[in-house]
Amino acid sequence: MRSRDAARWRAIAPGRVNLIGEHTDYNGLPVFPIAIDRDVRIEFRVVDDPVVRLDSPSARFAPFAFQLKRPIEPAAQGDWSNYVRAAARGLLEHGISLKRGIEGTVSGDAPIASGLSSSSALVVASALALLKANGVDVDDGAARGDGSRAMSRLELAALMARAERFVGLEGGGMDQAACLHGVEGHALRIEFDPLRVTPVPVPDGWRWVVASSLVRAEKSAGARGRYNERARQCREALAASVGAVPGGQAPNSGNRATNTAPAYNDLVSAADPGGLLRRVRRILSPVLFRRFRHVVTEGRRVALAEQAMRDVNMHRFGQLMVRSHESLRDDYEVSTGELDAIVGVALEAGAAGARLTGAGFGGCAVALCDDSTVAPVMEALTARFYKPRLGGPPTTDMLFVAKPGGGAGVQEM
Ligand code: GLA
Repeated sequence: MRSRDAARWRAIAPGRVNLIGEHTDYNGLPVFPIAIDRDVRIEFRVVDDPVVRLDSPSARFAPFAFQLKRPIEPAAQGDWSNYVRAAARGLLEHGISLKRGIEGTVSGDAPIASGLSSSSALVVASALALLKANGVDVDDGAARGDGSRAMSRLELAALMARAERFVGLEGGGMDQAACLHGVEGHALRIEFDPLRVTPVPVPDGWRWVVASSLVRAEKSAGARGRYNERARQCREALAASVGAVPGGQAPNSGNRATNTAPAYNDLVSAADPGGLLRRVRRILSPVLFRRFRHVVTEGRRVALAEQAMRDVNMHRFGQLMVRSHESLRDDYEVSTGELDAIVGVALEAGAAGARLTGAGFGGCAVALCDDSTVAPVMEALTARFYKPRLGGPPTTDMLFVAKPGGGAGVQEM
């Protein structure tokens, strides 16, 4: 049965570019991304039966339909409908009744499988569409005069971060939070446990050039195993490092039992980071030590980078991006030859900083440029990275300037 309500809606959810703080979110440490002016959108109408029917103008994405009833079974691994199913499943498991469904079309200009979180954008857009269809507002979380309460953006971001794990990646909460909390012209400090988002203005005259490595980074496919392996290694390294902190317990651990594993958060704020790393090095295997060192040093870089941006010291911010890239390349081992090449070309052409962005294993790099270096950096990347590989210039999906944009929402069309 179709609704007589002919209204059409558009749920829009942006992708994100992480500026610094990579592989820190699932370790409970802050990240510092921007939501970007590239999005995934679902144009839909509400239907009276509990069903989702979506298609896409792209032949790569076959039309699908599923019932909004538990259990929502996954489609085959790699099937794009799994991101929509994940959103529906997350809402249902949270106790939200989804009596009405949606039918419509998914499109957008966020590059796919590029490490820019188009998948989380699809999850968030799907959730917003389903909530709209079922009369649940999403707001800033303030209590309402009539006693009812909408779902807050923070609640929805945390819920969708858990829901997306249904697709397989043991992700942290960065992507969904950035997507829902984007603020034009601002970077976002996102903290976890509990989730908090603090916008920080990006100084005028600075731009973020995004460059694809031309290697796909699909969360549901190849990179998943290596990503999840890193998450496991971080947990192991933390548990094993307990003996390396004074008295066998974490600094700042208050009245915790002496055998309590420290949190990365405690370690990042340790008074003597060099001493901590020396002690931990004696305990951990070389691989686990490198993972540990990346997480702890990256955690410190996020705080320093945020301060640099607030101080309008963007050259310092750029240096921290370069340190971050080196750590991801050498200690975390998630870079690729292509990402290293992009970073090298961008820096030689005058970028203030450059690094891989997102999980790595392919995907994109981001370069920090001022107004005078944007064009030379993009020209150098075209000539030295893209033309030799493509035989011609890159598309605007491969190389573009990303603007810090606003957060996800639903509009009437
Ligand atoms: C992916 C995950 C995020 C985050 C990054 C790495 O994008 O979805 O949660 O862990 O990788 O920083």
